[in-house]
Amino acid sequence: MRHWVLITGCSTGIGRALVPLCREAGWSVVATARNPDALAELPPGEDLRILPLDVTDAASIAAAAAACADLPLKALVNNAGYAQVGPLELLHPEELRAQFETNVIGLHMVTNAFLPLLRQQPGARILQVASMLGRLSIPLAGPYNASKHAVVALAESLQLEVGRQVAVVLVEPGAVRTAFRDTLARAWGDLPERARGTRYEAVIAHYLHGRKRQAERYGMTAEACARKLLQALNASRPPRRMTVGWDAFWVGKLKALLPAAWWEAVMRRFYGLG
Ligand SMILES: NC(=O)c1ccc[n+]([C@@H]2O[C@H](COP(=O)([O-])OP(=O)(O)OC[C@H]3O[C@@H](n4cnc5c(N)ncnc54)[C@H](OP(=O)(O)O)[C@@H]3O)[C@@H](O)[C@H]2O)c1
Repeated sequence: MRHWVLITGCSTGIGRALVPLCREAGWSVVATARNPDALAELPPGEDLRILPLDVTDAASIAAAAAACADLPLKALVNNAGYAQVGPLELLHPEELRAQFETNVIGLHMVTNAFLPLLRQQPGARILQVASMLGRLSIPLAGPYNASKHAVVALAESLQLEVGRQVAVVLVEPGAVRTAFRDTLARAWGDLPERARGTRYEAVIAHYLHGRKRQAERYGMTAEACARKLLQALNASRPPRRMTVGWDAFWVGKLKALLPAAWWEAVMRRFYGLG
């Protein structure tokens, strides 16, 4: 019997790269996206079901869960997410709320909607895609840092609560070359205008340009990241935590080793915060 995996946020990036990898590895895939037309290019087959799923919309989640009720669902990959960035001083509360609605509450609602189905399959697992920024915080990305710290906390609690029946794997990637940074620029909204004339004006320009360039130079490909997720899907004993990428590994170590004042000095210098 083929096992099924449901993946959120398959329109681009890591989620999209994971779909063909899973199919090649013998999984059947429920590929989901807010706009399922974005998945029209995926080769059809009995091993693929395409469903609309907006993780902020309870009705959409319930409909997706109902549409999977007949499947032997063995894995869920909570991948959908975006980064709301910006200096906290300039941030509107609704921007912070929206960030949590998608990255945290959405992930939580999807998890709970599919847990009953997952419980029926021995060896079932949930992959919660957090970030290296779920363990350390960088400036100008406060909302995103906070949301991913919350994902880490939820995953660790969930592992303790249900881990004997359904394994919970925390995935913590470093920089990955995806549409993520374009989406990030869109999530700025009118922040550059809000920043005009403040100490953040130059900092933001430096940040937007620099972040994209760094990720393009050093980030791993979406496929390389997806391969790591596939390892966790296939593992007979899934890991509790999976750090993906040399930056996620080493930056975490560096933060743990450096005195706090040194770490802050490095961060301020790196982000042009003087
Ligand atoms: N790229 C990185 O450097 C990096 C590093 C660490 C962690 N991550 C995490 O990896 C995950 C995937 O990101 P990515 O790099 O692959 O970025 P991406 O290419 O921008 O993909 C994000 C996906 O999430 C979907 N999404 C956003 N809001 C959604 C919603 N309300 N409902 C359903 N889907 C939604 C997007 O769909 P639409 O097309 O509809 O917007 C898109 O398919 C995210 O959780 C991100 O935080 C990324």
